[in-house]
Order: sequence, then structure tokens, then C-alpha cells
Amino acid sequence: QSTTEVDLSKIQPGQAIKSQFRKQPLFVRNLTPAEIAEANKVDVASLRDPQTLAERTKPGKENWLITLGVCTHLGCVPLGAGEGENKGPFGGYFCPCHGSAYDTAARIRQGPAPKNLFVPNYTFNSDTAVTVG
Ligand code: FES
Repeated sequence: QSTTEVDLSKIQPGQAIKSQFRKQPLFVRNLTPAEIAEANKVDVASLRDPQTLAERTKPGKENWLITLGVCTHLGCVPLGAGEGENKGPFGGYFCPCHGSAYDTAARIRQGPAPKNLFVPNYTFNSDTAVTVG
């Protein structure tokens, strides 16, 4: 199907789950206040793909980080959501294929990947339900 419904009610702060969107892995992460602060303290101009956390989330819902789980280097599935839980040196996601490390806003910080993890279109239906696509 072309859209994916995600139930947010069971995703604890600090937890990320792996779902699927148009046959690709989808990461849905409930950021802790510390992870949000970590993302916001970064000098955006220093980033390879400069974006703020606010630009990558919805207003008032900055804790919900929804991205494809597809490394922007050569398409491996990074670790840090669901099994594995290796969040890498920047606390977000880590791609084991060639060592790309993403931060708590899923922005590329180290390694060969050129871009941040992609944020698909999505809408909140309620505080605990999102439609992606
Ligand atoms: Fe992720 Fe190469 S595919 S670092």
C-alpha cells in the first residue's frame, strides 16, 4: 500500500522502532529531552547536509523523528532502531556497511554518506497515530 499507519503509543522515550514504508525500512523514534537538546546544540552551518531538528520534525512534536531506515551512501539499513541498538558515536544511527554515523536528528555526521536520513511526508492523525505517505 502507498501509506503506512504507525501507532506511537508504545514507543517509549529513547526508543526507536523499525516499520516499513513502500517496501523500505522506516525508523520511528521518540527522542528524549536530552537527545533533542543534543540535536539543537549542533552548529547547523558545520553540517554536511545542514538542517535543524525543527526542519526535520513537526511543530510541537519535535520528539518524533520519522525517517527512512536507508543509509544515503549505498542503501544499507543503519543500526539503532529495534534490534542492534548500536546508535553509533553521535547517538542516532550507525551504518555498519562503511561506517556512516548519524546524530539524534538522523543527520549525517561521519563517514561516506552524503545526506541525512530521508524524512518522508507524514501527518499526525492524533497524538499517538501517524500516517506516512
Ligand atoms: Fe551506509 Fe555505506 S551504505 S555507509
